Amino acid sequence: MIPVFEPVIGEEEVAAVVAAIRRGEISGSFGESIPRFEEAFAAYCGCKYGIAVSSGTAALYLAVAALDLKAGDEILVSASTNIATALAAYHNNLVPVPIDSEPRTWNLNLDLIEDLITPRTRAIIPVHLFGHPVDMDRLCQIARKHNLVVIEDCAESHGATCHDRMTGSFGDMGCFSFYANKVITTGEGGMIVTNDSRIAEKLKLLRNLAFTTPRFRHEIAGYNFRMTGYSAAMGLVQCNKIEKVIEEKIRVAKTYDRFLKKVSGLQLPAPSTIGRHVYWMYGVVVQPDFPLSRDELQTQLRDAGIDTRTFFCPMNLQPCLQEQSGYRQVKCPVAESLWKTGFYLPSSPKLTEQIIQGIAETVYGIAEASHAKLTA
Ligand SMILES: Cc1ncc(COP(=O)(O)O)c(C=O)c1O
Repeated sequence: MIPVFEPVIGEEEVAAVVAAIRRGEISGSFGESIPRFEEAFAAYCGCKYGIAVSSGTAALYLAVAALDLKAGDEILVSASTNIATALAAYHNNLVPVPIDSEPRTWNLNLDLIEDLITPRTRAIIPVHLFGHPVDMDRLCQIARKHNLVVIEDCAESHGATCHDRMTGSFGDMGCFSFYANKVITTGEGGMIVTNDSRIAEKLKLLRNLAFTTPRFRHEIAGYNFRMTGYSAAMGLVQCNKIEKVIEEKIRVAKTYDRFLKKVSGLQLPAPSTIGRHVYWMYGVVVQPDFPLSRDELQTQLRDAGIDTRTFFCPMNLQPCLQEQSGYRQVKCPVAESLWKTGFYLPSSPKLTEQIIQGIAETVYGIAEASHAKLTA
C-alpha cells in the first residue's frame, strides 16, 4: 500500500535524539535543545519568540488560554479544519463559530467574516489548509477593524508565505504542529510563534504549570504542555532541512498536476495567487461530472494499493461542538460539500515521478473503466 504520508527522518535525527538523551534532556526544561529549536524555528517564521509545546493542539489551546477571555465569548474558526482548531475555543469555555470555505482555495471565505461577528466575538483562527496560505493582509485588516485577536493555525503551512511573509508571522500568535505527518516533525510536538514579548512570557509561564517564586505556590492555574528536550533536538535537525522538504512537496504537487490534468471531473489544488503554497497534502475534489463518487473512487484506489484520506468534517457538523452551551448554528454548504467530495492522495516528499505517474494513471484508468461501463 502506498501510504498517504511517510516522514523523512534520517540518521542525523537519530544521532541528535540519542545525544540529547545522553545529555539528560529527557523531561522538564533541561538543556539547550528547547531554546535553540525555539529560536531557530521562530527566526525561520520571521518572529522574535517561539514557545515549544507538546502538540499543535496544545499550541492552539494555550494561545487561546493566554487571551483570558470570558466564558461564552466567541471565536471565529475555519469550518474546514482538524477538530483541534475548534477545541482550542471549546476547552477554554468559548464558542467556536465556523466560517464556511471558499470553493477555489478551500480556505475560509474572507467575504463571510464580517457578517458572523457579534458583540461577543473576540478572536479569529484562520487555517492555512493543506499548506495554501490565507490572504492574511486582508484578514488582518478585517480583524483590526473589529478589534479581533488573530491566531493563525499553521499546523499544515510551515514555510507557506503570503506576499513574501511567512504564515505564522501575521497574527498575534501563530500555532504549528510537528506531528509525524507535518512538513517537519518532532514525533509529537508544536510551537507558538509571536512578536509580542508579553504574550511570549505568558505562554512560557502557562506551559510550565505557572511556576513562579516561591516554587510550589501558584498564583495562576497553568498547564504542563512542555516539549521534551530530545524532541526539540530532532526538531532542530528537521528545521535545517525544511526548505528541502518544501521543495520536494512542491515537486510532488506539480508532478500530480501534470499527470492528473487529463482526468476530467477532478478539481486539483489551486495554486496560490498571493504567495507560496507548500502543498502539505495533495487534495482533490471529485466533481459531479466524474463517473464515480468520491467514496467509490477511494475504495477502488485502496483496492489498487493506494491509500487516501477524506477532507475534514466541517466544524458545523461536529456533534461534540453542537452540545456546547451557546452553540451557534451556522450553515457551511461549501465545507460540507468538500467533506463529501474531497480527498487527498499520497503526498510523501519521497514519492518519485514514476510512483506519482502510476497513481495518476490508476485514477485515470478507474475513471475510464467507469465511463465505459456507464456508456455501454
Ligand atoms: C489544521 C490543524 N490544526 C491542528 C492540528 C493539531 O496538531 P497536533 O496533531 O500536533 O495536535 C492539526 C493536525 O494534526 C491540523 O491539521
